[in-house]
Amino acid sequence: MSENLDPAALLRWYIEAGVDEAIGDVPIDRTQVQAKAPTPKTERPVAPPQVVPATPAPAPIAAPIGDATAAHLAAAAHTVEELRAAVEAYTGCALKQFASRTVFADGNPKARVMFVGEAPGADEDRQGLPFVGVSGKLLDRMIGSIGLTRAESAYITNVVFWRPPGNRAPNDEEIAACLPFVVRHIELVDPAVLVCVGGLAAKTLLAKPQGITRLRGQWFDYETPGLARPVPCMALFHPAYLLRSPQQKKMAWRDLLAIKQKLGESGPN
Ligand code: URA
Repeated sequence: MSENLDPAALLRWYIEAGVDEAIGDVPIDRTQVQAKAPTPKTERPVAPPQVVPATPAPAPIAAPIGDATAAHLAAAAHTVEELRAAVEAYTGCALKQFASRTVFADGNPKARVMFVGEAPGADEDRQGLPFVGVSGKLLDRMIGSIGLTRAESAYITNVVFWRPPGNRAPNDEEIAACLPFVVRHIELVDPAVLVCVGGLAAKTLLAKPQGITRLRGQWFDYETPGLARPVPCMALFHPAYLLRSPQQKKMAWRDLLAIKQKLGESGPN
């Protein structure tokens, strides 16, 4: 490390890049680590080629995309509580091994509006509840601005149930491993309005190639075989993005008013 580099500045840089935890139990002083000497090459007699009978590939550790087990377990859940138990018992998403808690949902499962965010962060991982950190506080204010509360009139979950290490975005395989549960979750809650919070949730649920800037503010029909009718679905800017780009809050406000209006059209709160 250069002697001019301020350790506090370096630490801040790491935190801004999403590195908020030391992975090893014991810190490594990299200034003391010796470069490993290359192992000398030894001549080995070349064995004649052999024909080896094909052996079956070992079973994958993580669930492959479109995992049949997840789909089967999700379909077997007939209540939100049964689904929560199935998700907590599920080991097919690789993220689970890094997380401390399963983050299933918060709010009222009978609410008429369901918010689906991206992935738990450090605060959510500690508390086992979605959107309880800084961006969660803003989401609560956004929900409150249209007369709803998390405890009574909103239900909140994410597209993955475990925190990705270092707050990176979940990858396609991790999202696919959770997706059957997320879809079943929506079917069981059967909300009057579905809201995708952020680009990743919109991309996952709406299966559209456009980014959040294009998708937000429009109504889509969310349909699955398990829903009696298509659910109107809108994407919102993620509160973490709004905290970084407050000039976009007016667009989010517009979208929230559209959600309020749709809820008013589809019945009493
Ligand atoms: N961001 C999300 O998308 N979900 C959470 O639960 C927390 C932050």
